[in-house]
Amino acid sequence: MSRIVAADELGIAQAVEALRRGGVIGLPTETVYGLAADATNDEALRRVFAVKDRPATHPLIVHVADAPQLDALALEVSDSCRVLTTHAWPGPLTVIVHANDTVSRVATGGRDTVAVRVPAHRAALAIITQLGRPLAAPSANRFGEVSPTSARHVADDLGDDVDVIVDGGDCAVGVESTIVDCTTPQPEILRPGAITAEDIALLLDPHGVALASEPTGESRAPGMLARHYAPKARLHLVEPGSPLPRATAPVLDCSHDLASVARTLYGSLRDLDQRGVQEVNVLMPPPRGLGHAIRDRLQKAAFPARVGSLNRGGPTPPHS
Ligand code: TXA
Ligand code: MG
Repeated sequence: MSRIVAADELGIAQAVEALRRGGVIGLPTETVYGLAADATNDEALRRVFAVKDRPATHPLIVHVADAPQLDALALEVSDSCRVLTTHAWPGPLTVIVHANDTVSRVATGGRDTVAVRVPAHRAALAIITQLGRPLAAPSANRFGEVSPTSARHVADDLGDDVDVIVDGGDCAVGVESTIVDCTTPQPEILRPGAITAEDIALLLDPHGVALASEPTGESRAPGMLARHYAPKARLHLVEPGSPLPRATAPVLDCSHDLASVARTLYGSLRDLDQRGVQEVNVLMPPPRGLGHAIRDRLQKAAFPARVGSLNRGGPTPPHS
């Protein structure tokens, strides 16, 4: 039976107890809610894949409580990776590093690299610390659907399939973490997020390191689908200054106040479906800063199930 518990001492103790028994929990973070299991328990990890309906080759992010715990999982940590984590953790940054052999290959989807982050959420950090183990957690939605940014979203999506849902409030960031591949000499952004390409370039520049590419989302992350973060409503993406493609359809304005747009984006997409809206005009943010992450999620959400439709703007970088 799934239960929403408060993010207080009692609720956190219940979550830790469920994890100790090999359970899966709804974990609040500053980005989106995760579906978390003890990253050292392969059976619990398999349950995460089963609940999410996620292919076994699609790796999970391992959440730790502080930067030194990265060294316990990594074969090596490059200088530029260290610069990024020192600046951004706790926070919405995930780094990909070579995994040492203590890291479960169930969590990594069979790969020898692992994705690691320290979430900036008091309850998440308390749970990891009290469990004394890292937590593997993908977003707590079914594969290919819109990520949850509240405990209620997790309950709506996963219901009884999750043992405990810790209600840590609405997520402060609202879109998934920036993923940076640190296994190559030039770090590469695999998924844009609230730690922006501009932030990363500024951090690396004094060390003579450049990002490998623009954050186009060109990605080597495995298990990708073209359509993701997908509501049922059909999204018509409108660039600034362009006419509305569907004059009678409602408008979702994502063009300014980007921190607030990111925070409410997935809730807005869920609301459209609840109201039975079939089509919506989405005013796009500029491709700068947090605008990259919002555009990336909207492009995936708009990616048509049918080939050859108006919204198809070339290959989009999918993530789940
Ligand atoms: O903000 C977030 O990152 C949230 C919260 C819960 O922390 N988590 C999240 O997890 O978005 P998920 O599973 O929905 O997305 C993880 C992404 C996937 O696209 C996966 O392919 C990529 O991380 N990933 C994980 N391990 C990887 C690896 N070793 N190499 C390349 N990509 C990896
Ligand atoms: Mg996801």
